[in-house]
Amino acid sequence: MKSDLIQGESSGPKMLPTHVAIIMDGNGRWAKKRLMNRIKGHEQGSTTVRSIVTASREIGIKILTLYAFSTENWARPESEVKALMELLKKFIVAEREELKKNNIRLNIIGQKHRLPPDVRQEIDTTLELTAHNEEMILNLALSYGSREELTRAMQKIAAKIASKDLGPDEITESLISSHLYTSTMPDPDLIIRTSGEYRLSNFLLWQAAYSEIYITDTLWPDFTRDEFIEILKNFQTRERRFGKVSCNTLNGG
Ligand code: IPE
Ligand code: IPE
Ligand code: MG
Repeated sequence: MKSDLIQGESSGPKMLPTHVAIIMDGNGRWAKKRLMNRIKGHEQGSTTVRSIVTASREIGIKILTLYAFSTENWARPESEVKALMELLKKFIVAEREELKKNNIRLNIIGQKHRLPPDVRQEIDTTLELTAHNEEMILNLALSYGSREELTRAMQKIAAKIASKDLGPDEITESLISSHLYTSTMPDPDLIIRTSGEYRLSNFLLWQAAYSEIYITDTLWPDFTRDEFIEILKNFQTRERRFGKVSCNTLNGG
C-alpha cells in the first residue's frame, strides 16, 4: 500500500500504534451543514467506518476501537436512538463476511445487554463467526461509558472481597485493568477524535492514561483514509515519555 508509514510490531517510538481508538464525532453537524436530517449523517458515518476498518487492516493496526454509542447517547431522541440501532444492525450483518474474509475479530465493549434483542442476536452471530480471526480486532464500543465500566469493575472486585476471595491489598492497577471490558487488550496508543471537540466524553478514561491524543476538525463522515495515514505519521513523530525523561537526554542529547 502506498504510504511511507514505518511498520513495526510494537508500539514503541516510530512504530505503528498497536491500538488505535477513535471517537467518531460530527455526524449530526455534517448533516446539518447540508440541511439534512441527523440520521443522514449517521448513514454517511457508517461508510467512513467501513473505509477506516479496511484501511486499518491493510496498514497493520492490530486493534481498532471505535466509540459508536455512549451510555449518555441513550438520552438522545428516541427516533435517533432507533435509527442508530438499525444502522448498527445493518453494519454488523453487511460486514460479517468481509470481517471473516479479512481475518478480523469483532469484539464489543460496553453494556451489550442494553442493546435491542435483534441487534444483540446479529452481534452474537458475528462474534461467533469471527471468534478465531487473528489479523485485527475490531473493538466496537456500544452503550459504553468509562464511568459505568469502572463502577461495574468496582462492584465485581467488592463482591470478591466480600466473599473473602480477595484481600484489599490485592487490589492493584493490573487487577483493576483485568476487570474492565478491555481486560484482554493493551491500552490505546493513540486516541483520535473527529469534529474538533477537546474532550474524552467518558471514553476509556482509565486506559487513556498515557495515550497520545489527536484531535482533527474533520467531521467523521468526511474523515478519509489519507487523513488517517497522516495522523499515524504524526503519531510516529511523537516521543512518548510515560513520565520518564527523554531518551535523547539519556543519550546526552
Ligand atoms: C457521532 O456524531 C455519533 C454518535 C455520537 C452516535 P454525533 O451524532 O454526536 O454528531 P454531532 O456531534 O451532533 O455533530
Ligand atoms: C461521543 O460523542 C460519543 C460517541 C462518539 C459515540 P458525543 O457527541 O456523544 O459527545 P459529546 O456530547 O459531544 O461530549
Ligand atoms: Mg457529537
